[in-house]
Amino acid sequence: MLRAGSSRDLQARQRSILEAERQIVLSGAWQPIAYTWDLALHGQYTSTEVVGEPVIVVRCTNGRLAAMSNVCRHRGHPVATGSGRGRILTCGYHGWTYTLDGVVQSAPGFEWEEVPECARKLPSFPVASAGPFIFSRIRTDGAWAPDVPAILHEMLRDEGYGKLSLVARREWRVAANWKLMVENFVECLHCPIVHAATLARAVDLKRYRVEERSGYSVHYISSLAPGSMARSESGPRRRHDTVERQTIVFFPNFAVSFLPGYIVTFVVTPSDSETCHVLRDVLAAESYATEETELAAADVVTYYESLMAEDIRVVEAAQRGVASRFYLPGPLSVVGERGVAHFRRQLQEALSIAEG
Ligand code: FES
Ligand SMILES: [Fe+2]
Repeated sequence: MLRAGSSRDLQARQRSILEAERQIVLSGAWQPIAYTWDLALHGQYTSTEVVGEPVIVVRCTNGRLAAMSNVCRHRGHPVATGSGRGRILTCGYHGWTYTLDGVVQSAPGFEWEEVPECARKLPSFPVASAGPFIFSRIRTDGAWAPDVPAILHEMLRDEGYGKLSLVARREWRVAANWKLMVENFVECLHCPIVHAATLARAVDLKRYRVEERSGYSVHYISSLAPGSMARSESGPRRRHDTVERQTIVFFPNFAVSFLPGYIVTFVVTPSDSETCHVLRDVLAAESYATEETELAAADVVTYYESLMAEDIRVVEAAQRGVASRFYLPGPLSVVGERGVAHFRRQLQEALSIAEG
């Protein structure tokens, strides 16, 4: 029987594990924060969160992008809310103003000498882009972190998608630890069972394979036809040859799937140790607009909604299981759960580098 304090101890332990994962792993990795079309003009800004930290990203007057803490140096109000455009940023609480790159310009009610040196600038974060994606990260000491902008830039160039635009965004709150969601994403051992009516009917699962790279993995899957994945309920249509498509899963929590004519992203962020948030964007390539791909954006969205519903159902059920006193981590299939083993190794490595 459990002692009275043990479930509290377990919760405290889970909280401290999550804190380390947030502070070290997720904060050290490049996170997608905006799209270039949100920040096309000088002075445009948008506020967001990066691993729970309020961040503002701005297109400065010199054309460069800047990412900064969106916490006023006075008393902590957001410097900016939502999105907008201006020549300065004005805090909505007591009116401190900042230049677009985060330097305090005026502090109403203060003599300038009364504003300490350390309070005259917002902390800034690195920012980089790849195609339409803009990334930032809170910490820069994560040597293990993959260079997402550089890798994605190359991928986008090689795939030749041309101009991309956002056609849909979907978000889910999942009652499971974020790692369970990631681990579900990086293996397809569950696909014949969990996705029997969707993915399993649209792709050749026998040809699913994973290539491990440093900081990311590439998952290849052969779809029977571009249009088949969206129409799998009624059986795949074989009007085109098999198309091998790939998904890049960047450690720890961001993935990009390359489909004919579309890109679908996947971002998982923890809310607490037993809940996470999943965001998926569907981007369409302009160059495919006139081609006979049969794959309408609405079909792609519906298809991914079905897959997510199937995955969330098993992941939430597994969360209840792993919380059991009688659960011990089971073995991983050498081939079928290679992606899971890779994710766990990278996580361990990132945490141990930080400790060491
Ligand atoms: S909190 Fe921003 S001006 Fe006071
Ligand atoms: Fe799945």
